[in-house]
Parts: sequence; C-alpha cells; structure tokens
Amino acid sequence: MSTEVVGTMDTCACPCAAEGTVTSSASSALRDVLAPIVARWRGEEGNLIMILHALQHAVGYVPRAAALELSRMLDVPLARIYEVITFYNYFKLEPPGKYVIAVCTGTACYLKGAPMIIDTLREVLDLGEGRRVTADGLFQVEEVRCLGCCGLAPVLTVNGEVFGRVKQSDVPDIVEQFREREAGVQRG
Ligand code: FES
Repeated sequence: MSTEVVGTMDTCACPCAAEGTVTSSASSALRDVLAPIVARWRGEEGNLIMILHALQHAVGYVPRAAALELSRMLDVPLARIYEVITFYNYFKLEPPGKYVIAVCTGTACYLKGAPMIIDTLREVLDLGEGRRVTADGLFQVEEVRCLGCCGLAPVLTVNGEVFGRVKQSDVPDIVEQFREREAGVQRG
C-alpha cells in the first residue's frame, strides 16, 4: 500500500471517544453539564443555538435526553429545539464514533477521487443510507473542507492521523489498521 501516513493533527477538543447514548442513570450528569451552560446564556437573544453549540462541544452530540431536559429548563417546545438542530448541519443527533475518519472534499481532493474514497469507505464500513457512524460505534465518516495538505490529495485523517494520496484500494487496509489497534486496546 503506497498510502502515506504523514503525521498527527492536533487532537479534537470534543470527546470523540464518548460512548453510547445517555441513559436515565446519566441524566443527573447531563443536568450538571447543562446547568452552567443554560445559566450562561439564559435571557440572551438567540440563546438556544449558543446553548446547543456548547452542549455539543461538551458531549459530542445532542442526545435526545438533553433536548428534553433543555425543553424543560428553557420552557421551549421540544419541536422548536429539533427545528434548530435539524436546520443546521453542524448539530449531530447520534454519538460520535470512536475513530473519526475525515475525508477531505476540498477541490484538490475532490478532483483526485475523494467521492470514490467516501463511497468505498461507506461500503467497507457497511454504512447504510444516511448513517455516518457504524453500528458498533467504532467508526464515523465525515466530509471536511481542505485540510491544508493539497499536495497529498486525496487526503483523509483518522482521529487526526493523516493519510495522503489515498487510493480506493487502500481503504480496507486503513480501516483494518484501526480495527487491529482497537483490538489491542481491548486486550489491554
Ligand atoms: S483540498 Fe484536500 S487537502 Fe486541500
């Protein structure tokens, strides 16, 4: 495989490894997260979107339990909250995958086959229509804008680790590499 691993980008600030959905037993932890956020933005114009931003930054996505709690805390209809969440692409309704595969779709990468890389990834990871996280929660596929290393197009990153000049045939090996890494983590 001729793919180049060219380094590691800064670690994402959001909790990319967050696991699973928020259960009822975690609801008090959720309230602990929400209380200071709501207190910070309460009464300010356009606060719902700022609160959702802060929530997603803290938790990695907008859990349904959090939307329900927010509805109660802000006295805003749940439908209004979902209207905002679904209007902006930025907001995520499902927990992030442990390994986030970000495929650059900037001009250089696009022209050098990024769409085919994405198709292959979705096939290899068995991602159904509209899904971006694998059923086991291990992988997440995202499209991102220019990563600033166009000379290596097409480029993808996995949790910040950069792979350049990726070919469709490289995709299974890249995925397998992280599956093996995960198996090593599980074995301890
Ligand atoms: S367009 Fe992909 S790295 Fe610049």
